[in-house]
Amino acid sequence: MKQIFVIIVAAGSGRRFGSPLPKQFCNLAGRPLLMHTIDAMRESVPSSRVLLVLHSDYISLWHELCQRHKFSEQGIDIVSGGDTRSQSVRNALANVPCSADVYVLVHDGARPLADHAVTTRVMQALEAGDAAVVPAIPVTDSLRHVSPDGNSDAVDRSNYVAVQTPQGFRADILHKAYDGSDAATDDASLVQSVFPDIKISITPGAAYNIKITSPTDIAVAEALMRTRSKF
Ligand code: C5P
Repeated sequence: MKQIFVIIVAAGSGRRFGSPLPKQFCNLAGRPLLMHTIDAMRESVPSSRVLLVLHSDYISLWHELCQRHKFSEQGIDIVSGGDTRSQSVRNALANVPCSADVYVLVHDGARPLADHAVTTRVMQALEAGDAAVVPAIPVTDSLRHVSPDGNSDAVDRSNYVAVQTPQGFRADILHKAYDGSDAATDDASLVQSVFPDIKISITPGAAYNIKITSPTDIAVAEALMRTRSKF
C-alpha cells in the first residue's frame, strides 16, 4: 500500500481578497474556510498524512481557531510557508520521502469544495500509473489571445481547460521538479517545465470546486455547499 501525503497550501496573504484576515481564515458557513478544505481532503483520503502550510504569523491564530471550533488537529503537521506558492509547496515537500512508492496531492487551501468525487478520480489515475494528474474543467467563456500591442484574436476554447487542485504526483517526480525549477502558478506546470516528456494526465474536475478569490466567492461557495448534492 502506497503512502499518501496531502499538502494543503494556505500561506498566502490573499491580497486580492481585500480583507485584513487572509481568506483561508474567513468564515464560510459558520467556521473558517480552511477547516472545510481540510475536512474535505481528510474525508476523501483518510489514510493520508496532511501537511498544512501556514504563514508563520498565523500559526498561533490557527491553533486558537481550532480550539474555538473544536477542530481536531490530529494527523495534521504544520509547515511554515514561503514568499510564493511554489516556495510553500517546497517547504512542505521537505517532509515527504522522495520515493516512487509515495503519492502527493497538492491542494489549494482556498478550494474548500474539492470533494471525494474529484479527489478519487485523481487518486485512481495515480494508481493506474500516471505520474502527474490534474483535475480540469472545460472553459465556458469565449477566449481571446491578447498580444503585447493590445490587439487580440479569438481562440478556440475547445482546445483549453481550466486547471484545478488537488493535483496528484508520484513523490519522486515532484521532488525532482522542485529541485530543478523555481516557480509556477501550479505544480503540474512546474513538473512539465522540468520533465517535458512526462504526460500530464487530465481528469474531470468539478465546476463547484471553485477557488475563493473575492468576498463574493464566499456567498457562491455557501450556495454551492447547499446544492452540491444535487449535481
Ligand atoms: O493566491 P492564490 O489564491 O492563487 O494562491 C493559491 C493557494 O496558494 C492559496 O491557498 C494560498 O494560501 C497558497 N499560497 C501559499 N503561499 C504563498 C502564496 C499562496 O501557500 N506564498
